[in-house]
Order: sequence, then structure tokens, then C-alpha cells
Amino acid sequence: MSFSFYSRLFICSVITIFLLVAYTAGATNFYDEFDITWGGGRGKITGAGDILTLSLDRVSGSGFQSKKEYHFGRIDMQLRLVPGNSAGTVTAYYLASHGRHQDEIDFEFLGNASGEPYTLHTNVYTQGKGEREQQFRMWFDPTSHFHTYSIIWTPQTIIFLVDDTPVREFKNMEAFGVPFPKQQPMRLYSSLWNADEWATRGGLVKTDWTHAPFMASYRNFNVKAGVVSQSSLTHKQKLRWVRKNHMIYNYCTDAKRFPRGLPRECKVGVHV
Ligand SMILES: *[C@@H]1O[C@H](CO)[C@@H](O)[C@H](O)[C@H]1NC(C)=O
Repeated sequence: MSFSFYSRLFICSVITIFLLVAYTAGATNFYDEFDITWGGGRGKITGAGDILTLSLDRVSGSGFQSKKEYHFGRIDMQLRLVPGNSAGTVTAYYLASHGRHQDEIDFEFLGNASGEPYTLHTNVYTQGKGEREQQFRMWFDPTSHFHTYSIIWTPQTIIFLVDDTPVREFKNMEAFGVPFPKQQPMRLYSSLWNADEWATRGGLVKTDWTHAPFMASYRNFNVKAGVVSQSSLTHKQKLRWVRKNHMIYNYCTDAKRFPRGLPRECKVGVHV
């Protein structure tokens, strides 16, 4: 049996369309998953619900939150951060419980002058207490393309990942008297706002509003609910590589900040 050129072309097209449909069906629809919660129209879900953008101008920033709450799982999102001169802007992307004694798992991206590196800022709040900052330089330009930022949250551990490379792990150290976020579900939040009083070089570099509106984009949101498999040996090696080469701040080595002694988890674990 032989097909003509055109029938072969037709079959190829049908297969391509089928694959595209299958792929699109796999990615989650932003309309179904998120509410734009502030910004008076500066946050937008566009197209078929596959892209979300937040923007910031002199008047306001913007933000969104997930409709659902999560209690353990793996959450992936692709972000493209504010390009160009983003000094003074902060893109926050985090899980948080609500009510008193808040738990939080935070990514924050601190903008910078054109061509200067972003700072990836992370924190973990347990029962209302944070002060567990770790900061990193990214090993790529996070504004030129989308990159995947993930949180794995299980009863045993919290892992922050960038393009599937773990940058931070906060293990459950309840056995040593360190609270761990476990009891409360969390919602996913993100916002783009102006923080030029502190974000860039301690507030020295101000936001240049002639470049406004500033914009961050989101796509390919994915959740695997429930308890997911955790760190492998490769993950451990990658985590060591990030800490050695890209970590620029670790609260656990900032003795000056804790004159009465480092937080308990800093003395327990090799991993914080
Ligand atoms: C911005 O760039 C400067 C110079 O490379 C760097 O010292 C600083 O840490 C960068 N990040 C932020 C958020 O200021």
C-alpha cells in the first residue's frame, strides 16, 4: 500500500494536531485554577487560559491566588521575570496558610538594573515565625525565557527547585523541637510589587518608572497533589552544587544577626 504525498501530509497534520490537543489538555487552565485578587486589571489571564501576566506601574502592582488549597504535593510553575531594568521590583511566588500562626514557603525574585543578576530569595515560616532566609544567584537569565520553579512539600521535607535542580531543602526537624508546616493546608499566591525601599542593594537603587509597566509572565502550572516522592541521590549532589556555587546568603551562617545563638535547626542539620 502506498500513500500519495498529499495523503501523507494529511496524516502528519492529523497526528500533529492530535499531539497538540493532548499536550494542551495536560497543562492546567489558569481560569480554572486562579483568581486575580488585586491590581485593578493589571493582572490578566490571556488566550485560552494558558498564560497569566502580572504588571506593575507607579499606581499599583498586581497579584493572584489559587482557588484551591493544597496539603502536601508538588507544585510546578513556569515564570518569566520582569526583563530589562527591574531594579526595585519584587515578584513573590509562595504557598501560605491563612489565619494565625501562618506557615509559608516563599520564593521571591528581587529585580536588578539591566544586565545585573536577579536575587532569588527564599524563606520558610513555621507557625508564624520566619527569619530563615537563604538567597541565591541564578545560573541563567530568568528574564529571557520561562523557567520552572517548583515546591515539593511532604510531611518529611520541603524542597525548592529551579528547573528541577533543588536549591534548598528544609527537612522536618520536629524531633529536635523545630516546628514544621504540616497541620494546615496552603494556597498558592503570587504578586508583583514595588519594594524599592529595600529590594535592590538595600534600597540604594530605585525603581525607574520610565520603564513601567513592568511585567512578569506565568504558564504551565502543574500540581501533583498529596505525598510525592522526594530527593534522590542526584538531587543531593545538585543541591550541594547550588549551595557551593550560587548561594549568596544563609541565615544559618549569619551569627551577627542572632547574638543569642543561631536558630536551633542550624545546629541540627547539615542541610540548612
Ligand atoms: C544587583 O547587582 C549587583 C551588582 O552585580 C549585586 O551586587 C546585587 O546583589 C544584585 N541584586 C540585587 C537584588 O540587588
